[in-house]
Amino acid sequence: MRASEEGPAVTDTLWAQVGGIETFERIVRAFYAGVREDPVLAPMYPDADWEGAIWRLRAFLEQYWGGPTTYSEQRGHPRLRMRHAPFPVTPDAKERWLKHMHAALDEAALPPMHDAAFRDYVERAALAMVNRFE
Ligand code: HEM
Repeated sequence: MRASEEGPAVTDTLWAQVGGIETFERIVRAFYAGVREDPVLAPMYPDADWEGAIWRLRAFLEQYWGGPTTYSEQRGHPRLRMRHAPFPVTPDAKERWLKHMHAALDEAALPPMHDAAFRDYVERAALAMVNRFE
């Protein structure tokens, strides 16, 4: 990818290009501010370990987008579908999760290409996480 038609090649990861840890922290905090207030999603976090949840999602997303691999060093292979099996991820829960993530991304206002890539990824990942249909 190039910065413009004849610009320099872009070799940095998306993680670095959007501002690294600070940007991911901002997105995930805004996301969880919505989740905490959501009547369907909030009860799925009975321990209310919000800081832990923020760390896990932030570290996972940073790793996915080319940042540090701290998530796997501490949590092992993500196996996200398996890790979500205990939670009732219905189509409604998925739509709610995405609504909060989209709101967080609206606030972050990433450059358009990065914003589109991020939304496309979470959309597909969320669909793959659905594990209940009632
Ligand atoms: C589709 C709706 C989803 C629901 C309702 C949901 C719900 C949950 C819940 C209740 C937890 C446990 C809280 C915790 O211990 O962190 C969790 C963990 C997690 N979720 Fe989701 N999630 C959804 C989608 C996603 C998606 C799309 C991703 C990634 C793009 C994701 C990434 C994670 C990660 C990384 C963890 C922590 C896993 C661990 O290391 O234990 N989730 N999710």
